[in-house]
Amino acid sequence: MPHPLPSPREITASGPLKGRVTVPGDKSISHRSLMLSALAVGESRISWLLEGEDVLATAAAMRSMGADIERGADGVWRVHGVGVGGLLQPQAALEMGNSGTSTRLLMGLIASHGITATFTGDASLSKRPMGRVIEPLSKMGAEFTASPGGRLPLMLRGINPAVPIAYTLPVASAQVKSAVLLAGLNTPGITRVIEPVATRDHSERMLRGFGAELTVEESPAGKIISIRGEAELKPQEIVVPGDPSSAAFLVVAATIVPGSDIVVENVGLNPTRAGIFTALRLMGASIEEVNPREVGGEPVADLRVRHASLTAIEVPGELAPSMIDEYPALFVAAAFAHGRTVARGAHELRVKESDRIAAMAAALGACGVETEEFEDGLAVLGRGGDPIAGGATIATHLDHRVAMSLAVAALNAKAPVTLDDASPVATSYPAFFDQLAQLQA
Ligand code: S3P
Repeated sequence: MPHPLPSPREITASGPLKGRVTVPGDKSISHRSLMLSALAVGESRISWLLEGEDVLATAAAMRSMGADIERGADGVWRVHGVGVGGLLQPQAALEMGNSGTSTRLLMGLIASHGITATFTGDASLSKRPMGRVIEPLSKMGAEFTASPGGRLPLMLRGINPAVPIAYTLPVASAQVKSAVLLAGLNTPGITRVIEPVATRDHSERMLRGFGAELTVEESPAGKIISIRGEAELKPQEIVVPGDPSSAAFLVVAATIVPGSDIVVENVGLNPTRAGIFTALRLMGASIEEVNPREVGGEPVADLRVRHASLTAIEVPGELAPSMIDEYPALFVAAAFAHGRTVARGAHELRVKESDRIAAMAAALGACGVETEEFEDGLAVLGRGGDPIAGGATIATHLDHRVAMSLAVAALNAKAPVTLDDASPVATSYPAFFDQLAQLQA
């Protein structure tokens, strides 16, 4: 999947945001829906699947390993799976584009199949560490030939039968947890993951929903998640809830643009994901949950968000796992708060689609916002709600969330902000600029 040419985009300040939009499907849940449907025998149907580049990379990979995946004219995706253990040898490299989730979860799935796969990615993904998945999957018997530093491109030789392990996560990562659990699906016996710090639990919920035998126990060492292998998955009807990570940009936009009053519909509020809304509320944001309900086994609500005056906080470190993707948006909110917001304990931000601490410090700095970088976080000196200077061209570093964060900051800037490349937005939220325009109309 060659990356498109850079697509610069200028964003100018906005009047109040008004109206309602429905955020697209959750990226994490969309990946998992396709992977598990592709392993169930029979037809699964997936509604509100996120049709972003990252998820399409997962769909293409599952197709190349034998699953039949089609999008119907009604927008519902129909998947005929191959059965657990039934993945076929792909005939070409698996092109993962920008998607760390596709890469790490598929490495897990393939590790316990007797097939070989080569993974390639774009310049951003090729810099990201894969050693964290290679380590446990090697313990299960898979073999890897990776590029220096444990990076892509890499070749994975899976093994069947693989060896069940009990693995304590050295880093709070749902991708690593999921990789081991997915490898465990086709491994005889019981595979265990011990999770000292809780991360998003979509894999656990969905594996259970598909009929796998999976238990979660609390222990002094953390959550112990056990999966019985050689499972048989039953096809499902899935409705993907809206993505809180995408919603976060609109929520911050309405919060920082005076006069705004919007409703973001269908926002997934799984507690392992909703930390950003807690943090914003601590700063004084006005976020009201309307019509709480369940979609696809996940809590969901519509969020009514009104402009608010924000006060700086020290972001509680324990929120980090439940808002790890939302720090860039939070840093933008902090730029409009009264006082100095400090976020520490988020070292993982250094190894996302970009080094988000450095990228956001540089981007906000270029827009006239003072920051201080720490190895594990960032302090942002807020301007008390006054517009930021803007008037800069921002390096987005192939990072969708850096691009969207600065697009939001630009809505309350004195001079236009130019993104050097807005194309990465299509990885997770292709409708972002259209939905923003809709709220501005
Ligand atoms: C994800 C887990 C997180 C998150 C990523 C999606 C997932 O990554 O940042 O966007 O779907 O499991 P880590 O596992 O690296 O924390």
